[in-house]
Amino acid sequence: MSIRRGMSRMVLLIGPWAIKVPSGHNGLRLWVNGWLANLLETERWRSVEHTQSAPFFAPVYVSLAGLLIVMRRETPLQRRLTAIGCEVLPVANLDNNGQNVGMRDGHLVVFDYGGAENYVEIRV
Ligand SMILES: Nc1ncnc2c1ncn2[C@@H]1O[C@H](COP(=O)(O)OP(=O)(O)OP(=O)(O)O)[C@@H](O)[C@H]1O
Ligand SMILES: [Mg+2]
Repeated sequence: MSIRRGMSRMVLLIGPWAIKVPSGHNGLRLWVNGWLANLLETERWRSVEHTQSAPFFAPVYVSLAGLLIVMRRETPLQRRLTAIGCEVLPVANLDNNGQNVGMRDGHLVVFDYGGAENYVEIRV
């Protein structure tokens, strides 16, 4: 098991799961952002899961009112995407920090898509 900290969430990596909870280490406002990010990821996953956009998103399996979500664990690429990589993904304004996107079955997969600035494109 390992622990990762983002700006607004703490993430426990256990086996095939990533458990994400809002984190207060940067103050209450970012804790609220973490809660909102969990809610948005859950909502967005549900909106894409039965569409052609689904393979590009790490699934959210469980949400407890966004206070805790269980997402599929991915392996971060550890490098920023090129402009072409960003273009391929059905997510606008991706935080391209090398830690939010992985690779699975030969294509990119995003696992931080709960930002208010991220718009998700649904390909039917
Ligand atoms: N599904 C996942 N699989 C593997 N690692 C993950 C997953 N989700 C998050 N992580 C790890 O946890 C870190 C923080 O998660 P995430 O980026 O979702 O939180 P955040 O608070 O929105 O972060 P930030 O705004 O700093 O990017 C990520 O940078 C990554 O290393
Ligand atoms: Mg992130």
